Amino acid sequence: KKKLLVLTGGGDCPGLNAVLRGIVKRSQQNPEWEVYGSIEAYNGVLSDPQEIVRLDNKAIAGIHVKGGTIIKTTNKGGPFTWPVKHEDGTWSSIDRSDDLLNRLDDLGITAVISIGGDGSQRISQKLYERGLDIVGVPKTIDNDLSGTDFTFGFQTAVQIASDCLDKLVTTAESHHRVMIMEVMGRAAGWIALHTAISGGAEVCLIPEIPYDVEKIKQRIDQRYHNGKGFAHIVMAEGAKSIGGDVVASKSNEVGYKNVRLGGCAYRLSQELKDAGCEADIRETVLGHIQRGGGPIAFDRVLALQFGVKAFEMVLERKFGRMVAYQHNDIVDVPLLEAISTYNYVNTDSYLVKTARGLGISFGD
Ligand code: F6P
Repeated sequence: KKKLLVLTGGGDCPGLNAVLRGIVKRSQQNPEWEVYGSIEAYNGVLSDPQEIVRLDNKAIAGIHVKGGTIIKTTNKGGPFTWPVKHEDGTWSSIDRSDDLLNRLDDLGITAVISIGGDGSQRISQKLYERGLDIVGVPKTIDNDLSGTDFTFGFQTAVQIASDCLDKLVTTAESHHRVMIMEVMGRAAGWIALHTAISGGAEVCLIPEIPYDVEKIKQRIDQRYHNGKGFAHIVMAEGAKSIGGDVVASKSNEVGYKNVRLGGCAYRLSQELKDAGCEADIRETVLGHIQRGGGPIAFDRVLALQFGVKAFEMVLERKFGRMVAYQHNDIVDVPLLEAISTYNYVNTDSYLVKTARGLGISFGD
């Protein structure tokens, strides 16, 4: 038997289970293959005792509609930066990639499919360079991975955020309030931009277009004087003011600052008050609700396609490559392409033009 090991790494994302189903279903047409899942990304292989489960027809029954991942995930460390806790309570990391490759050999693993975001794809590239037969599947609600037009989970996150904005509209209107809704996205504004357009916000703040708080105040004042008396601001967690910095915590390998959740909405609220905005402002931080629950149909279809394609790439020995969605087709690209650039919103794109055309201010 040939053994395929599958794992999910990084933050969870609606559609992960659908990818697993796609892989297992497709593998059943090649019965010489058996599919296994490593629990919590590489932890399942690297821990003692190991935690590896068989993914057969029974295991994947009906899972394509469920959120999360049945084989669990982690966004702490990986084989190259395995976290070690010292007696004094401090942490450091060690490289356990040799150990991982030896263990995969001992387990008789023929190939690996790693489903994850840019961190996971980076690990896959390094393991590929070390000789592992590995295929990547892109995953993130943030849509910030290059090489693919969309990642599964993104449309679901936008749907959730958009539904929440609809709910904020009725309460804002009743109370004559300005609502600031903070959404996820890391250093990219994809979720914020799609949500602002879909939900009809007046202001959309994204990391790619630094904002001037005075401009936001003007847009809100203008709306008030038009007799509307309420307004909506959709803000990406990585949005920053002109000359300002993101609410930074740690920098990562692609060179952008990572961001902490829950900072921006409150910061902007204060900035608006300091600028003399007299409106009654309320903040909503959507947080992890955006990646909870099952995937919408678009993401199910995309994730199932990614799963089937990933298995076929294993059959075709297309290793060191990642499944991708480009121009309404499922293709594959080198892992290196996916990790070499960060997928920011193009500020000259028709999407941004559409937002401006609808009267949405970016605060610039
Ligand atoms: O990458 C997905 C994401 O949801 C980001 O939008 C967010 O910044 C981050 O993960 C938060 O992840 P966690 O709370 O799991 O560290």
